[in-house]
Amino acid sequence: MSEFRNENAPIIVEADGFHLIDSQGHRYLDGHSSLWCNIHGHRVPAIDQAIRAQLDRVAHSTLLGLSNGPSIELANELIRRTPDGLNKVFYSDCGAAGVEVALKIAYQFYQQRPSGGQIRDKFLHFDGAYHGDTIGTMSIGSIGRFKNLYNPLLFPVVWTSVPNASHDNPDQERQQLDYWTSELEKLLELHHETLAGVVIEPMVQAAAGIKVQASGFLKRARELTRRFDTMLIADEIAVGFGRTGTLFACEQEEVDPDILILSKGLTGGYLPLAATLVTDEIYEVFLGDPWLGRTFYHGHTYTGNPLACAAALASIRLIDENQVLKNAQRLQGVLRRELDLLKEHPNVKEIRQKGTMVGIELALDGAPFPAQLRIGHQVTLACRKRGVVLRNIADVIVLMPAPAMPEQLVEELCQAVGKSVVEVMQSAKQQM
Ligand SMILES: Cc1ncc(COP(=O)(O)O)c(C=O)c1O
Repeated sequence: MSEFRNENAPIIVEADGFHLIDSQGHRYLDGHSSLWCNIHGHRVPAIDQAIRAQLDRVAHSTLLGLSNGPSIELANELIRRTPDGLNKVFYSDCGAAGVEVALKIAYQFYQQRPSGGQIRDKFLHFDGAYHGDTIGTMSIGSIGRFKNLYNPLLFPVVWTSVPNASHDNPDQERQQLDYWTSELEKLLELHHETLAGVVIEPMVQAAAGIKVQASGFLKRARELTRRFDTMLIADEIAVGFGRTGTLFACEQEEVDPDILILSKGLTGGYLPLAATLVTDEIYEVFLGDPWLGRTFYHGHTYTGNPLACAAALASIRLIDENQVLKNAQRLQGVLRRELDLLKEHPNVKEIRQKGTMVGIELALDGAPFPAQLRIGHQVTLACRKRGVVLRNIADVIVLMPAPAMPEQLVEELCQAVGKSVVEVMQSAKQQM
C-alpha cells in the first residue's frame, strides 16, 4: 500500500476501446488486458447491450434449487467449444474458486467412484505454478513470495518441474522434455494411489513470468495421468480464450483433460465468472438420492450470475464474428517482429512468447538485478509516462495485449516498452 500511495496510482474513471482513462484525463493503452482478462477492448457495444438486455430481465437469481437462461445457454456453448468429453459445467465467480472446485471434485470423486472408495489426498503441481490466492490454490502454487508466509496453513503436495521451450535449441528442448517426463513418471509411479490429480497450466505458466513449456509435454502429462489413473486438471484461466493463438491451449496438443477451469477471459474481461468443466464419468459419481450424501456441497451466492453469463455469451459470439483468433495469430507475428531488436539489448536476458503472451526478462550480467532497484516496476512506471499500463513480475515485463487489439496499437505498445527499457537501463547504470 505504501507504493500505491506514494506513486499516486491512477484512478480509472472510464475507457475507450483499448484505452483506459484516469480522473486527470490521461489515456493509457491497456497493455495487460486489465490483468489478462480483456478480450475485445472496453465498452464493446455487443457486450454492453447483452448486459443491459439481461438487466431488463433479472440481474441475479441463485442456482441453488433454481436455474436461469443465460447460465444454461453458456454451459451449452462451453461444452461445444471445449475439448471432447467435458460435458458438465460448474460455475463459480473467480479463477481461484474455479480451481478450488476442481480440487474438491477430484478429492470427492475418488471416495465415491463405483470401482471402490479411496482417500486420495494429494495433488501434484509444477514448479512455477500459480492457481490463485486462496488456501487450496496456494497449496498447489509454488511462487514463494505469494505463499511462503502461509505455509503452515497449506496442505502437503507432490511437485516436479515442467520442461521449458527453447526455440533456439531444439535438441536441448527435446532433452528437457524427456528428462522431465521421466521425472513425472517416477512421481506418478510412487504416488498414484494417493494422488487425486495433476494440476497444470497448459503450455504457459503466466505468473511465473510467461514460462513457455516444451511442446509435447502437455500431451505426455495426459498420457501418463491416464496410465496411472489419476486426473489431469487443466487450469486455462490465463491461457484460455485465444491468448495462445487457439481458443484453448489444450487444443494445440489435442489433449482432453478430465477437468478444465476457465475464468478471466470467459466474460471478455467484463464481470467475474469461472467455470469448472468435468466429464460425464466424474459427474455421474455425484448422482444419487440426497440422503446418500454424494452431493457436491460447494456453492457461491453469485454462482451462474445471469449478467456475467450474458456477457460471456456475447463475448464468445464476438470471438467468432470478429475472427478474433485469426487476429491473435497475426498479433503473435507483430509482437515477435516489433520486439526483435530489444533482444539485442545487453540487459534483456530472454524474451519468452506464446501467442499474445510475452515476458521480457531483464538481467544484469545474466543475474537478477538487486531487488531494491525494482527494475521491472521502474519499467512499468516509464511505460505509464508513455501512456501504456503494464505490470511486471519481478524483473519480467509482461505484455498481454487483448487478442482483438488492432495491429497498430500492438506496435505502439512494443515501441513504448522498448523505449522504457532503454531509458530505465540507462538510469540504472548511473545508480550502480
Ligand atoms: C493460471 C491462473 N490460475 C488461477 C488464477 C486466479 O484467478 P483469480 O485471480 O480470478 O482468482 C490466475 C490469476 O492470475 C491464473 O493466472
